[in-house]
Amino acid sequence: MTIQVAAAAPSKPRLSPLAGAAMVMLVSASTVANPAALANADLSRRVDALIRRMTLDEKIGQLTQIGADRPGPNKETAHELIRSGRAGSVLWTINSEDIRKMQEIAVKESRLGIPLLFGFDVIHGYKNYFPVPIGLASSWDPALVERTAAIAAKEASVSGVNWTFAPMLDIARDARWGRMVEGAGEDTFLGVAMARAQVRGFQGPALGTPDRVLATAKHFAAYGAADGGRDYDSAYVPDVQLHNVYFPPFRAAVDAGVGTVMAAYMTLNDVPASGSRWLMTDVLRKDMGFKGFVISDAWSVASLEAHRFARDSAEAAERGIKAGVNMDMGSNTYLTRLPRLVKLGKVPMSVIDQAVREVLAIKVRMGLFERPYADLSRKETVFNDPSHRAATREAAQRSIVLLRNEGALLPLKPSLQRIAVIGPIADSTEEIKGPWTAEAGAAVSVLEGVRARWPQATVEFVRGGDMQRAYALPWDAREGKPAPTLMAEAEMRAEEAKAVEAARRAEVVVLVLGERAGMAGEAASSAALTLQGNQQALLEAVVATGRPVVLLLLNGRPLNITWAASKVASIVEAWFPGTEGGHAIADILSGAVNPSGRLPVTWPRSAGHAPHYYNHNTTHAPEDEGVFTSRYADVSSLPLYPFGHGLSYTSFRYGPLELDGKSISTQSKLRVSVDVENTGAVAGDEVVQLYIHQRSGSATRAVRELKGFKRIRLKPGARERVSFTLGRDELQFWSAAKRGWVFEPTDFDVWVGGDSRASQHANFTVTR
Ligand code: BGC
Repeated sequence: MTIQVAAAAPSKPRLSPLAGAAMVMLVSASTVANPAALANADLSRRVDALIRRMTLDEKIGQLTQIGADRPGPNKETAHELIRSGRAGSVLWTINSEDIRKMQEIAVKESRLGIPLLFGFDVIHGYKNYFPVPIGLASSWDPALVERTAAIAAKEASVSGVNWTFAPMLDIARDARWGRMVEGAGEDTFLGVAMARAQVRGFQGPALGTPDRVLATAKHFAAYGAADGGRDYDSAYVPDVQLHNVYFPPFRAAVDAGVGTVMAAYMTLNDVPASGSRWLMTDVLRKDMGFKGFVISDAWSVASLEAHRFARDSAEAAERGIKAGVNMDMGSNTYLTRLPRLVKLGKVPMSVIDQAVREVLAIKVRMGLFERPYADLSRKETVFNDPSHRAATREAAQRSIVLLRNEGALLPLKPSLQRIAVIGPIADSTEEIKGPWTAEAGAAVSVLEGVRARWPQATVEFVRGGDMQRAYALPWDAREGKPAPTLMAEAEMRAEEAKAVEAARRAEVVVLVLGERAGMAGEAASSAALTLQGNQQALLEAVVATGRPVVLLLLNGRPLNITWAASKVASIVEAWFPGTEGGHAIADILSGAVNPSGRLPVTWPRSAGHAPHYYNHNTTHAPEDEGVFTSRYADVSSLPLYPFGHGLSYTSFRYGPLELDGKSISTQSKLRVSVDVENTGAVAGDEVVQLYIHQRSGSATRAVRELKGFKRIRLKPGARERVSFTLGRDELQFWSAAKRGWVFEPTDFDVWVGGDSRASQHANFTVTR
């Protein structure tokens, strides 16, 4: 890697004699080529040497993330704040030239020359977009997900963005919460695998790996458990769920070396996460062993006052820093309040020093002092790397879930002559990318994908109406885009009529429904999960034509498609598949690629199912029959589609489970093996899933819990033996009674199969 070390050159003029120590640090750092060795080379001595030379304002500057376009507390520009050493990081800037300029000011014009971190939400790509995270999780393919994060990191870092606010590791059991789209779904085991993969992908094997960025595990913790699925609302989560369900993905990220963690916005059990010393210090640092630094969520230090937790903004700053939140994102509360708090003795200098130490240690470990600048001359080559584009198509193919395929309508015949593509965003080259995009660049729409795949066919497109929800979209407004307006009622009816005509003329209809990108993500909660605008009416009108209909969903969470699930032959969940989405969808519809995605969430029949998750406890009346059960009276309590569900154009047969023993001790491990055979006519990928259940013990355990999965590829007629290992890691749980992890000697069930209803069963006993 080319090292651009203007900043580290020994002859570089400095602005102050005090900068000498920083220079010694830089020179000695530049002699160490390897980032891992660098990290070990007396990191703390170097950081402390720098801290000794910092003024209080400069220290607080390192704890401050400023907005590039926002004036400072005294109307200073970002450049002025950086020059005076009062910024450690800059938020939401992706313009490479601006980044370069700001970094030059930090390195060459600020007294100590400490480089900046440029933080941005690189969630599922930077220039080339992969499927949104819930789509990536549907691939059940951690190696692929690691690769996508590495590509995103490369595109971001070559642009100057050196820090991503990803991955989002919030377990989501309520589709009303719009941010379900940003995570790996409802399951902890899958969430752990995706957490590890993304941290490795973004950061590489160690901080400072060329072409990678600093990652952020967010939002610590239990943000996805918001009351009523309303974003930012309170979460009430008992310890057993925190430890067994919500914390493990964060622990996995910490174990994978994640450099930063983001404190969540909401109150957890009445304490705002961003002011929770228990969360940020006791759990994260002491228990999990986190060694990086904590960034607040945007303005979440200031919002400690809004929560009526802190009396005023000074107390907000005090409680944030004392909780263990190192850096204040955006609100300038630390910048304006901490100096006085230190002078008054309310915040000891040792607390400030420790917070600064953790920030500087990350900057040193990243090699930022040696390589503060991106090599912008590589940008276009990296953006246009054909392997990146190819990876977006592959990832999209693997993330698409075939939910239903009655009468084997899919795959569609290559010889089709007349296809109707209907839907408000079926022709959109923007919406298909999903929420959280950075660099502009059009994607392939569904319409384009279908046209390219069936060049001989007449492909008729009709919008059919609109899907905008009735309320304004703050997110679009925040991004400076006008919120798309709802089509007038009369126009929607006219569109519906046109759609019906087009459907009648077609051999098959590809009906594209779901959500616009801005309808999923932050501040995008949904009360009813119903198809918005006139989409349900459009669906019913098109289905009433009697033509074969493929319902293709572009969306960020399960929606209420209960009507469609019994009336439409084929339903395909494509999530927001990204840049190559249209092509990947056509690959699946045509059978060029066999669908292999599996649901990372339980699909509810109604929003009233929330919270919906397969790994619930057994009730005293476990069956969904009879009167005195926990079922609903108005709608089946069973999911529309179970967790792990996804169909294929081939079929798989599972042999009986083979265990290498009927009992194990708490010190040993059990091997579970099964033969899986492709019994259909085409090659396909199967996601083999293993679930366990503890039959009795000191606490009631879930009916089933995922504890293993493997994605395998089988040619027609081929068979593969798949094995899993079960031991303490998989069979233990966190016990409220013991306040710790227990592995109890008792009887267990194990199932292996293609979804969470897997039926191949065996049991075993754990002895002391
Ligand atoms: C979101 C975070 C995001 C941050 C910076 C906040 O509103 O909750 O997930 O990283 O903004 O964009």
